[in-house]
Amino acid sequence: MTQFSFSLNATDGKARQGVIQMPRGEIRTPAFMPVGTAATVKAMLPESVAATGADILLGNTYHLMLRPTAERIERLGGLHKFMNWYKPILTDSGGFQVMSLSSLRKMSEEGVTFKSHIDGSKHHLSPERSMEIQRMLGSDIVMCFDECTPFPAEEKVSLESMRMSMRWAERSRAAFGDRPGYALFGIQQGSIFSEQRAESAEKLKEIGFDGYAIGGLAVGEGQATMFDVLDYAPDMLPADKPRYLMGVGKPDDIVGAVARGIDMMDCVLPSRSGRTGQVFTRHGVVNIKNARHQDDPRPLDEECTCPACSNYSRAYLHHVFRAQEMISGMLLTWHNLHYYQELMQGMRDAIQENRFDAFQKTFFSQRTEGDI
Ligand code: GUN
Ligand code: ZN
Repeated sequence: MTQFSFSLNATDGKARQGVIQMPRGEIRTPAFMPVGTAATVKAMLPESVAATGADILLGNTYHLMLRPTAERIERLGGLHKFMNWYKPILTDSGGFQVMSLSSLRKMSEEGVTFKSHIDGSKHHLSPERSMEIQRMLGSDIVMCFDECTPFPAEEKVSLESMRMSMRWAERSRAAFGDRPGYALFGIQQGSIFSEQRAESAEKLKEIGFDGYAIGGLAVGEGQATMFDVLDYAPDMLPADKPRYLMGVGKPDDIVGAVARGIDMMDCVLPSRSGRTGQVFTRHGVVNIKNARHQDDPRPLDEECTCPACSNYSRAYLHHVFRAQEMISGMLLTWHNLHYYQELMQGMRDAIQENRFDAFQKTFFSQRTEGDI
């Protein structure tokens, strides 16, 4: 039986094209993972998400432990069955969401106690509890419990935070145990400090993981600073394991990350923007609520083969957005996820054919800054 393996098909500069094999299916890399926080990619049927080309979804420990609870999902046969998505699922470990969503957080070496953003009830997360929840959900790729160091952080503050995350990584590894067919990823921290990123990578490699994430980025540092870190951080992680950049990003962030050796990414942007009327196209961002679309019979993107572009005009998409019709979120989310997955396929093809530089040049030359 396939357990967990990662193999590279091609490299072009630092960019890599490969495949992760898991019992629930293959993940073609570079991979973009749509976010299905609350056991749904909002406004999309799971079969539609698969039709856009997604091989894997991201789920959230934090949201699911609060509602409907991991215990209930386990009793109902696990997250795949619960949400009708049978391909791989990666779950984030909860700490990041506790810090951004919950109130009255109390953190210690042991873990974090917090109040739910939904009903104010009190909960606890630790490396051990996060591993237990992710196991009950049936997550295929489990993330270590870590602290996403806020930005900016003083060097000393970041060092203490990173070292605690590394102790938590050890505890995560021990609590996860040996689970054939399931994978555990470590998360590198260290903010923008290269020596700290190096120390973190060394510690994670010593513990040993199936894959390695880069955390603590896309937290307000800006693209230039993020790329500065990505110029060295991926090289510190094992070349024969997948490298996952957490929470990234805009299309140009994704292309830049792949150019620097990243294999996996996730972001709410394509799905969330689909519901706020922001549309990603090869030419740039379209704001569908803009009045100049109201009489426009053209599709969003002439070249796109998604249902929104195949069957509807900008005028219609503008109308249903303004009228707050549910189909608006459905069509725009579909288009955005389709665009992201086409971007990933375009990069995979370009890396295989050794023309990733040309791909990047075309990608940037087609784009117009601002609303198009
Ligand atoms: N999502 C975005 N950044 C991070 C991070 O640093 N850690 C975790 N667990 N999730 C994230
Ligand atoms: Zn489209």
